Amino acid sequence: MKRIVLLGPPGAGKGTISELLIERLSLTHISVGDILRQNIKDNTELGKIASDYMSKGNLVPNEIIIAIVKDRLSKSDCQTQYLLDGYPRTIEQAKALDEFAAPEYVFNLYVDKDVIVNRLIGRRMCSKCGSIYHISKIDNDKVCPKCSGELYQRKDDNKEVVENRIDVYNKETAVLVDYYKDSERLINVDSSRDPEVIYKEIEKALND
Ligand code: AP5
Repeated sequence: MKRIVLLGPPGAGKGTISELLIERLSLTHISVGDILRQNIKDNTELGKIASDYMSKGNLVPNEIIIAIVKDRLSKSDCQTQYLLDGYPRTIEQAKALDEFAAPEYVFNLYVDKDVIVNRLIGRRMCSKCGSIYHISKIDNDKVCPKCSGELYQRKDDNKEVVENRIDVYNKETAVLVDYYKDSERLINVDSSRDPEVIYKEIEKALND
């Protein structure tokens, strides 16, 4: 069984490393941020509620998020494995997860704040295939090199909201490092390196 959580501040590279892990290890990827953004796009009740919190960089209330993840993890494609990206973000979420589908591996992607801000301000996403880029690594910041879809900048990737997301991470989520360290599931990963190097380190830990 491979039940994996990717922890880390905004911009640590959770989405980028998830892309590599799901492509190569056949894991079911669950990104709470992606689920919420899809609901905003579809103008659902959940989307209307989440939008207020997300546009400011605050966390969506625990009871809403826990219900979404519990329901998603009850599906047949998550019974023996999952890759959780962006959940848990509070102690309450972590305790709930331990009750319904405890993770075996928690990779803590850590990186300096300056690097994070630069990464997020320069991030572009593909509206068609969801691929993640940085403007410093692509020739054209409007067109996806993989599928020719249109690239866009996330609404919460502006300096003011990014600063708040980092504060929220420090206040509410950073404490999870100790939570998982205490139960011996934590593996720290220096996320300032190349994604391929990070991927190899995670793959090795999963095979050890
Ligand atoms: P979410 O979408 O999860 O955003 P986040 O946690 O802030 O993380 P990001 O997606 O911004 O960053 P990332 O670590 O995935 O980095 P990425 O790989 O894209 O959540 C958004 C919002 O939803 C939250 O603010 C909250 O409101 C709500 N929400 C979500 N989950 C919730 C929960 N559990 N509870 C309550 N509310 C919740 O990379 C970023 C950039 O860096 C890219 O440009 C990329 O190309 C570049 N990059 C990545 N890795 C590297 C590398 N190794 N080297 C060089 N560049 C890199």
